[in-house]
Amino acid sequence: MSIIFDEKHNTVHLTNGHISYIMQLMDGKYLLHRYFGSALRSWNNTGVPRPAKRSYTTEYGDSQIYFDALPWEYPTRGRGDYRLPAMTVAGAVGAPISELIFCSWRVLDKKPESIVLPMTFTGTGKSETLVVECTDEVSGAELTLYYTIFDGVDIIARQQRIVNTGSTPIHITNLQSVSLSVPAGDYDLLTLYGCHAQEANISRVPLHQGVQSIGSSYGSSSPRHQPFWALLNPNTTEISGQVYGCLLLYSGNFAAAVEQDSFGAVRAQMGLGDSSFCWMLEPGETFETPEALLTYSSQGLNGMSHNFHNVLRNHLLPTRWRGVPRPILLNSWEAMYYEVSLSKIEIQARLAKELGIELFVLDDGWFRKGNDSRSSMGNWECNVSKLPGGIEAVADLVHGMGLQFGLWFEPEAISRDSQLFRTHPDWILQLPQVSPREGRHEYLLDLGRDEVCDYLLQVLHRYLGTGKIDYIKWDMNRPMTDAASNALSPEHQAEVPHRYILGLYTILRQITAAYPHVLFEGCSSGGARLDAGMLAYFAQNWTSDNTDAKERAAIQSGFSLIYPPEVLGAHVSIIPNHQTGRITPLDTRFDVARLFNLGYELDLTRCTDEEREAIARQIETAKFDRDWLQKGIFYRHPVIRPGDRMWSMVSADQNRCIAVIFRTLYDPLGEQAVFRFCGLNPTRNYRDMETGAVYGGDELMALGLTLPPRKQDFTTQCIFIQAE
Ligand code: GLA
Repeated sequence: MSIIFDEKHNTVHLTNGHISYIMQLMDGKYLLHRYFGSALRSWNNTGVPRPAKRSYTTEYGDSQIYFDALPWEYPTRGRGDYRLPAMTVAGAVGAPISELIFCSWRVLDKKPESIVLPMTFTGTGKSETLVVECTDEVSGAELTLYYTIFDGVDIIARQQRIVNTGSTPIHITNLQSVSLSVPAGDYDLLTLYGCHAQEANISRVPLHQGVQSIGSSYGSSSPRHQPFWALLNPNTTEISGQVYGCLLLYSGNFAAAVEQDSFGAVRAQMGLGDSSFCWMLEPGETFETPEALLTYSSQGLNGMSHNFHNVLRNHLLPTRWRGVPRPILLNSWEAMYYEVSLSKIEIQARLAKELGIELFVLDDGWFRKGNDSRSSMGNWECNVSKLPGGIEAVADLVHGMGLQFGLWFEPEAISRDSQLFRTHPDWILQLPQVSPREGRHEYLLDLGRDEVCDYLLQVLHRYLGTGKIDYIKWDMNRPMTDAASNALSPEHQAEVPHRYILGLYTILRQITAAYPHVLFEGCSSGGARLDAGMLAYFAQNWTSDNTDAKERAAIQSGFSLIYPPEVLGAHVSIIPNHQTGRITPLDTRFDVARLFNLGYELDLTRCTDEEREAIARQIETAKFDRDWLQKGIFYRHPVIRPGDRMWSMVSADQNRCIAVIFRTLYDPLGEQAVFRFCGLNPTRNYRDMETGAVYGGDELMALGLTLPPRKQDFTTQCIFIQAE
């Protein structure tokens, strides 16, 4: 791994032997992007478009170089480049125009940290960071670009920091985390879109002239779009072809846009904020963007996913949980909803223990005055008429049965009907003289205020400090409205959504550091705030409120494009399914969950003895495999029939593989169905653990195994193979 400066070509080349990222300095002052892709040994001005006369634009001196044609590394506005800018700032002059001039570059062997934002860390591997310093001659701002390359991970991590060294405020309305120039060509744009209970659907559309954009103005990353895009060659599949991918480590409003210009060249960006974003940077202050992760793979979408999984597992997730199996849990929500009681908990926990479950999670309801979402949010006092003896008594009961104990919280929300609201009505996000909108009968606390964060930290310490809580489910169930703070002057009000997220990260950083052995699970009405920012604190995340196996197969496939399976909560629930009414076999519900973060969420008293025995067997199998599954390489396999899913997990040492084949409907043409393995060692032989037959890894990948017919809908089949 190295960062190499080439004085002859005025370039800097970041490479780890797998990927290369190359920039060039033009006339010692303008930074251009030259290459991102598979590793090169060197770069000798190759691939540069031929200069050609362009009219109705602005030229650089007497040359045939046009500002609007240059592949700017970090483009700005108002000086002849008419494509998407990465930076829009206005200083004392007032005009939102920048002239960004290169000052210096150097290499750090230690990755810079942020005191508030989640960022990747070097961990046990190695990384190097290129620091490029620039100055904006118009606003006077100093901008620093950071590029980190990791050993053995095909990712470039990028971040920007801007300092106001002048004596008047600078208004930042746009400061992208990433801007990438991609050579002219045909591309597909792949993004993930969705809504509550239907998250992470794949959109793949041809890139066209003009701008295609996604984003969120929910105040959270939201279920509408993931902070992620991929640019693919049109013939790229799951297993082959080129992909550029980008992921933002941020949990609030974001925007991502891809522009194909009139000449076919592409600029792809992602960063903070929606169109209303504005930050007033006072003299002497620094503003930093969230980090973005760029990847390149020539191994199709699975290759991109492996790069993301690798960086998230080894350079972002809480170190305590790296490669460590999460406990198999039983969550009370679908069994009890708000109507929790000690006797119900006792019965469920006892049955859970008998089946091999390790953690009992008490979900919503424990602090509510009634049995709905209308009250009590913010008080965080246990309702002792539901649970005599309070949470400590519940924890003692559950621990007494040999299970760990987990508790649900929604710290960011507050009910109008709560003591906290009566005491501090000004602590919510609200506009003066306009009544705030309710979402699920809640308001949001103003996490941009220190006193609000301190209050929440005190509440959490009160519970976690007892040492009786092993797990927290951190939920957030409404999007942001009325994003205004009672504590800020009018000129800073547009900063509220970002200040909220900074406050949230501050709380999460402190509380997870204070209790490193507590497992935190992120949740937001399912996967509404499942993003890479949250993964820095939450080793697992509730993927969707939709627990139907068929729907989950699609949702988990979508999220697996970005996130490693062990962080995606996948629960076996009751039938008919509470969200869809669908009936699926118990085996299917387990198989769809087994490669992910397995849990159960059902009333165990409603299962028959045979079902409970089957669940006990499932849990035994899951425990047997879970050590290697945590570090396994996950593959999505191409399917012929829409709705079907084929996945496999190959152990890091290529010794074992579990394949899961989910078929939606009975297929009369099923004799065509074949499962071709991926990622095996072609020179080794593998035994099918069910039939005993032995096959070469090469033939399993080239030809695959024929799948038996299934005369039922919503079935799964699993194949286990082990190297001889
Ligand atoms: C959200 C979560 C659910 C459950 C409920 C409780 O919807 O996604 O899993 O915790 O809140 O109110």
